[in-house]
Amino acid sequence: MAIKPIVFIPDPVLRQVATPVEDVNAGIRSLMDDMLDTMYDAPGIGLAAPQIGISKRVIVMDCSDDDEADAPLKMANPEIITLSDASQTMEEGCLSIPGHHGEVTRPNGVTVRYLDENNEPRELTCEGLLAVCIQHEIDHLNGVLFIDYLSRLKRDMIVRKMTKDARGQKG
Ligand code: NI
Repeated sequence: MAIKPIVFIPDPVLRQVATPVEDVNAGIRSLMDDMLDTMYDAPGIGLAAPQIGISKRVIVMDCSDDDEADAPLKMANPEIITLSDASQTMEEGCLSIPGHHGEVTRPNGVTVRYLDENNEPRELTCEGLLAVCIQHEIDHLNGVLFIDYLSRLKRDMIVRKMTKDARGQKG
């Protein structure tokens, strides 16, 4: 298990469509563990493999409250099967776009099908924060970021700022 460096926009890996996992073997299980370590360390409530530079369809999440036991979720090849008609608006952020937030409206409930860490097919139905988190992380696997749901003005402002910061880091 290891903490990996998180990549920020405008890194092109964040805009790629990630490749499905063939099966959840030891290598993918170790990727999932590294992703959870990286996510808890950040700290964040979700992380997609492209955010550590690996363009594979793997996501991890933990939306438990601070006073609850950890509830890590590890998913390979997650697919949304149903979305609720009802929607909710929440303020979202992203570990790949640190320091920026925005309100995003998404379906309130979701059913997702995926492979767990033992390569077993599973289905999960949830709503609220976890449903938002799952949609946000699956978006990452399709090269979609939460800023894509904001106004063009706000999105351009964030991208410009992050691009400037990235240039600054390279010196
Ligand atoms: Ni994100």
